[in-house]
Amino acid sequence: MHDEQLKATANRMVANGKGLLAADESNGTIGKRFEAVGVENTHENRRAYRELLFTAPDIAEGISGVIMYDETFRDTASTGASFVSLLESADVLPGIKVDEGTEPMDGSPEEKVTKGLESLSSRMPEYAELGAKFAKWRAVITIGEGIPTDANLTENARRLAAYAKICQENGIVPIVEPEVLMDWSNGQAECEAVSERNLTHVFAALRAADVLIEGMILKTNMMVPGKESGETKTPEEVAEATLRVFTKVLPPGLPGQMFLSGGQSELEATENLAAMHARGPLPWKLSFSYGRALQKGALEAWRGMPENVPAAQAAFLHRAKMNRLAALGRYTKEAEAKA
Ligand code: G3H
Repeated sequence: MHDEQLKATANRMVANGKGLLAADESNGTIGKRFEAVGVENTHENRRAYRELLFTAPDIAEGISGVIMYDETFRDTASTGASFVSLLESADVLPGIKVDEGTEPMDGSPEEKVTKGLESLSSRMPEYAELGAKFAKWRAVITIGEGIPTDANLTENARRLAAYAKICQENGIVPIVEPEVLMDWSNGQAECEAVSERNLTHVFAALRAADVLIEGMILKTNMMVPGKESGETKTPEEVAEATLRVFTKVLPPGLPGQMFLSGGQSELEATENLAAMHARGPLPWKLSFSYGRALQKGALEAWRGMPENVPAAQAAFLHRAKMNRLAALGRYTKEAEAKA
């Protein structure tokens, strides 16, 4: 029923090398980010911080959409305008995170499943009414001794597909985010093997649920070694492994894959994306939907001080621009150095 609208929105999200700002940290998570720069986690500070990002001059040059947390999605800027209308008038698509976090899986508590499906059918029409053009649901996959199990991959994929179907029934583009965490001691080869299994489960579940592939966006991880592994990989090695997996599992018709940064530094996230496009032209649109890798410098520049807003906006816009150049295959060290 909404097929044409879904396809148009999904294609707009990845058009011209643009990407998404993932500003959908829960109040607990943004508290940790604030703590690192000495900012108190109050509603006023959360609002001021999101306002500085969303009102960054010419934000739409690099950013096609913003993912918000429920509080921000319903909130207003200091002018009294809602954040949703403020983004729309800047030509940026408003999106919302709709999952309700994770919980241990029955029978395998080290693994997680994502919550929030029961209430989703009743919540979704309201999000559409309030102006959401796309949504996000994140599943997290843990690598460890004997895990992930097929049962965990199957259950997370089933929930992602059920969520995606509900989104599309409401005219909202689902971002399907199955993230293999990079926090552990596994090497890159294991990340690659698990990611291939994970994405195979996800696309099987999406097909079984009759999700319109042309009306969704994938948001998954790059193939990187775990942070505790001691292994390092060059951007070229990350790009090679990531594209190897995508060649096997990404279906035709998918409008785009927008990477999460997952704990990579700002520079790593840009250089890895650039290395993929350096091997191009690629058969898919590969872009970014970064949280930390777009915001770290901005937060450090801001530190909760109104007088630092222009510097914080400049830091954020620079990262958006560098990632867009990376997604267009035009990123250079010279452009980076102009910061
Ligand atoms: O779900 C994850 C976020 O949307 C992306 O955050 O880039 O900091 O991993 P990240």
